[in-house]
Amino acid sequence: MDFKKFFFYIKTYLNFENIKTSLLVFWYSLLKQNTKYPKYLLNFEKKVANFFGSKYAISFSNGTTACTTLLYSLGVKKNSKVIISKLTFPSVISSILRIGAIPQYIDFDKNLQLKNNFNENKILNADYILITHAYGIPQNSNTLETILKLNKKIILIEDISHSQGATNKNKMVVARSAASFMSMQGDKAINAGEGGVIITNSDEVYKKVIYLSHLNRKTLPENNLNSLSTIGFIGKGRMNPLGAITATNDIKNLSKRNKILRKKMQIIYDGFKKFDNIHIPQIDDFENTGGFHYGFPFFCDSETRLINLKKIFQILKI
Ligand SMILES: Cc1ncc(COP(=O)(O)O)c(C=O)c1O
Repeated sequence: MDFKKFFFYIKTYLNFENIKTSLLVFWYSLLKQNTKYPKYLLNFEKKVANFFGSKYAISFSNGTTACTTLLYSLGVKKNSKVIISKLTFPSVISSILRIGAIPQYIDFDKNLQLKNNFNENKILNADYILITHAYGIPQNSNTLETILKLNKKIILIEDISHSQGATNKNKMVVARSAASFMSMQGDKAINAGEGGVIITNSDEVYKKVIYLSHLNRKTLPENNLNSLSTIGFIGKGRMNPLGAITATNDIKNLSKRNKILRKKMQIIYDGFKKFDNIHIPQIDDFENTGGFHYGFPFFCDSETRLINLKKIFQILKI
């Protein structure tokens, strides 16, 4: 790490809250409360559930395990048809494929929205729809509602790894789905280092995800389900509880952080409007965005323009 970077790191991250969480990690490690389900991990789950206005939040070792467990718990099986936008994360697709289910891809446009020229038969024949609200920009609720009206039996699952706190017609992104999941890998708004969460209102989903992936988690009222949880049908998906300490801090600061990032997004996108060859995703109301990931995406169809912009701005990924 060069000196400039080191100084930037100290200035940005050496604050009271980060020192406090580091000391808590140290303290709970010292007390050996760093495995299974310590109280602070269960409190973290409650805080997540409260933030999203949901009945349950169940922690996981990562977003991919949360996704796979959720798919099984919702009954996705061999040959189930799962509608999915091409704008998603590879391991979400591999979770679908691992079960033997069939992804049915839908294109997305330059506003990062599902294209609404989809094939109606594709929707009518599908069993599930898995939506990733990417880069803090929620999927257009009109398109989603059209799909849900067209196929009343389709089950909606939301991947909110990039959109914690984003809203759709005044509803949190998780509100329309049977259940949602998110990654808490270190680049996400809620950072556990590595981690994931399933969010649901359904008692059924809650029970299933526990006995599928939470080995020996004895929080279920029914004894027979508690015995099932000794098997770990999918494997072992429990998170490292120490990650819940940093993630709890992030949940506490999420609304404040979202406000700041919404303003930054608006300023940057307004600034980009004056350039040719650049398309920024259309955002009707920045108040609906939230979570975010890496930065603010845009399209550019001129290599030279991109190289020039790269010199002026810190563009992370092309
Ligand atoms: C949108 C999205 N979904 C799912 C995942 C998978 O989560 P994880 O890396 O925690 O397994 C990621 C990871 O970055 C992601 O960005």
